[in-house]
Amino acid sequence: MHPSDWTGRARQFVRPLDALLRSCANELRSYAQGIGRSLALGLAREGAEHQVRHNQVAVRELMPPSAGRDAAEGAEAERKDENMKAVAVNSFGDPPRVLDLPEPEPGPGEILVGLQFASINPVDWAATAGALTRFTKHRFPLILGFDGVGRIQALGAGVQRFAVGDLIHGQFWGDVLAFGTYAQRLTIVEQPAFGALQTVPDGVDPRLAAALPTAGMTADGALEQLGCQAGQSLLILGATGGVGVLATQLAAQTGLTVIATARADAREQIQRLGAAETIDYGTHTVDDELTTVAPGGVHGVLDLVGDPEGLAAAVRHLRDGGRVVSIASGVTDELAAQKRIIAINYVLDDKPARLRRVSERLAAGRLEVPVDREVALQQAPEAVAAARQGGARGKTLIRI
Ligand SMILES: NC(=O)c1ccc[n+]([C@@H]2O[C@H](COP(=O)([O-])OP(=O)(O)OC[C@H]3O[C@@H](n4cnc5c(N)ncnc54)[C@H](OP(=O)(O)O)[C@@H]3O)[C@@H](O)[C@H]2O)c1
Repeated sequence: MHPSDWTGRARQFVRPLDALLRSCANELRSYAQGIGRSLALGLAREGAEHQVRHNQVAVRELMPPSAGRDAAEGAEAERKDENMKAVAVNSFGDPPRVLDLPEPEPGPGEILVGLQFASINPVDWAATAGALTRFTKHRFPLILGFDGVGRIQALGAGVQRFAVGDLIHGQFWGDVLAFGTYAQRLTIVEQPAFGALQTVPDGVDPRLAAALPTAGMTADGALEQLGCQAGQSLLILGATGGVGVLATQLAAQTGLTVIATARADAREQIQRLGAAETIDYGTHTVDDELTTVAPGGVHGVLDLVGDPEGLAAAVRHLRDGGRVVSIASGVTDELAAQKRIIAINYVLDDKPARLRRVSERLAAGRLEVPVDREVALQQAPEAVAAARQGGARGKTLIRI
């Protein structure tokens, strides 16, 4: 028999089955509106997806290998109504766009999350430029976004940590980068090797749970690397961005005297968050200002900007034995080689423990997450372009 005949017969067999199972899934969906919506929606989704997966397998098994692709594409085409909105790129260097993409399905060990909010980080556009290829595999279309919050809608086989209906947040950095948080849904392994996920602590606003993860964990980790003690002074370069607004608070709460760079428009905000002094780098050089503000020098420098020249100038004001930590690769080999000080470039580590720590602080009301801007998913490409231009005053949120 010709392969195309096989395809036709396979479709004939599968379509009625498809229709029946789809109607069951729809029944479940309506039922979901009456009882525990998220739980039943998870079941309905799982049922529908299992049905489609199952039918694709059935089609493939009925046909000789050459006809397999045709029939699978047929079954796939019937799922077109199950697309979701996501912001993605089709290749490295592409501008992000809002696309209709197929719904993800949780495989073994994976969870399906219905996202509520995402937040923007510089690593989002670094990923679309290919900057993370040495850490992680990528698959296109590549959906942007690492940070977010959402409810679990379905579980793959063997998931232990979470249940359907859990509200979780964190850095959704999967083993393969493909599904990001700028989307209606994503799938991810329950315990990602690079990221960190947990249930949202009681009393935490989901918006802030989405805004916190990467910036909060980084502020926590960088300050730990610095190891400054209460009573010492710390210069923070880039204090007005996502990491800076949190690092300023954490440092001030540890009893450090914080000297923060901030343009005039952000001065008040940064002082309210705990900075003892601010330096407007738009109108003065940090080098000149430090001579007045910290004549005896500072004990530590936290660099969130990554300008090696500016950092080298600031480090001239570091006391002997002082520490410099840059999260933006601002420490050059030359700076690291200086015997008088200790200078390192820091990459975020130990994420689950750090996420737990900063989110507990947020839940206890001891940390503020300033939200600079909130946009809808449709506006995310424009918000990313704006964030790339600079001027962040805290975090930008994406409402899904
Ligand atoms: N190593 C890691 O694991 C890690 C983790 C997280 C983030 N990062 C990196 O850390 C950096 C900061 O992240 P973020 O999320 O805080 O970024 P962000 O939200 O975009 O904030 C950057 C801030 O720096 C300010 N700024 C820019 N140039 C400055 C200068 N010359 N002097 C003082 N301030 C300046 C910006 O304000 P104006 O534009 O108004 O000047 C803005 O407020 C990024 O490069 C990011 O990729 C690294």
